[in-house]
Amino acid sequence: MKVMVIGSGGREHTIIKSLKKSPEITELYALPGNGGIARDAVCVNIKATDLEGAVKFAKSSGIDYAVVAPDDPLVLGMVDALNAEGIPCFGPNKNAAIIEGSKVFSKNLMKKYGIPTASYETFSDKEEALSYLDTAAIPTVVKADGLALGKGVIIANTREEAKAAVVSMMEDKMFGESGSNIVIEEFLTGPEVSVLSFTDGKAVVPMISSMDHKRALDGDNGLNTGGMGTIAPNPYYTEDIAKQCMEEIFLPTINAMNAEGRTFKGCLYFGLMLTPNGPKVIEYNCRFGDPETQVVLPLLETDLFEIMRAVTEERLSEIEVKFSEKSACCVIMASHGYPQKYETGFEITIPEGLDAEVFVAGGKLSDEGKLLTSGGRVLGITAVGDGLPNAIEKSYAAVRQIHFENAYSRSDIGAKALAALKQEA
Ligand code: AMP
Ligand code: GLY
Repeated sequence: MKVMVIGSGGREHTIIKSLKKSPEITELYALPGNGGIARDAVCVNIKATDLEGAVKFAKSSGIDYAVVAPDDPLVLGMVDALNAEGIPCFGPNKNAAIIEGSKVFSKNLMKKYGIPTASYETFSDKEEALSYLDTAAIPTVVKADGLALGKGVIIANTREEAKAAVVSMMEDKMFGESGSNIVIEEFLTGPEVSVLSFTDGKAVVPMISSMDHKRALDGDNGLNTGGMGTIAPNPYYTEDIAKQCMEEIFLPTINAMNAEGRTFKGCLYFGLMLTPNGPKVIEYNCRFGDPETQVVLPLLETDLFEIMRAVTEERLSEIEVKFSEKSACCVIMASHGYPQKYETGFEITIPEGLDAEVFVAGGKLSDEGKLLTSGGRVLGITAVGDGLPNAIEKSYAAVRQIHFENAYSRSDIGAKALAALKQEA
């Protein structure tokens, strides 16, 4: 079968490497892909948000199945556009992708159906938001309603910071129209867990849990990034907590979306915080997480394509989804200066025979076929090991063998998880 994957990051490279293992797939395309993905799929220069271009390409090339990975094409309705031409897809329709596309929608959904989350108020009027902040509990969290490249969340430690966040979102339009409506919510505390799940709208099958490291610098300092590394499984996510999340969060969310006439099919990502009052939803994403995918899929033992088609055909409950008992760690190698200013265009050297997988997020091919850096996050280096300490060690050992000018990684990916494991023992 001919399969195309929409997207161009490390997550898409991971999905493509996983799909490559499926005997059913004869040809793999990436739209637009990147210089690293080009070694595993045919890259086609069509932007991920170009619905018309993707549909045209799919029809003219006889594509049998499409995987829509990033949030923006999903929220724009890429799956609807492809389905309308008879091309089956992995990913939610536009009316279900709103669970990530609008925070006002997802917060109201959780309130209506009693799904645990931070308490909140929504605002479309700046003055009302500002006067609410005169008495709101501090710290507080200000969120832009729409997609904001993962940057639309400001944690305010003072009333002044909170008000400045409101002004920057609603008046200065720091995140464009995404900030026309905002959510102001209760500040929660506790370890964070990412749970990606497969769902066909009937069954929900959680994947192995993971932990992201969002801040740029060691010790969770510095600016928020797209994610500097991940580990799986997440030691905070015990079997009891998993059971509680299934009963109080996962199934109620699937049922709520069905009740709203917005059946969700694809990968639903639960961003959870394990608070002293139980697990609560911090955010939903309508897609695989990045870089969570880089640790979750390498541990998946079932054929990914088989699972994806079962989701599309609403027979997920009929198949067994198996994960390895091992652990995985992904360390992101970024360009120094990310997430702010950084230089690109440096040659990347990766030795043969690494005991790790290299997923390319920001790489392009030179005319001579050399892999050059082209983004803030450049590579995700994933190692699988017997236990977390072994996975972390192997991942950093591989990082030390890979070179490009100005490379930067955090040195403590997995450290918090290791501390949690020690406490348990
Ligand atoms: P998001 O962009 O929605 O992933 O949020 C970025 C990060 O902000 C999350 O991973 C949390 O660490 C933090 N965050 C979001 N909402 C809250 C909240 N209500 N309380 C505490 N931290 C939060
Ligand atoms: N790693 C967080 C996300 O994918 O949104």
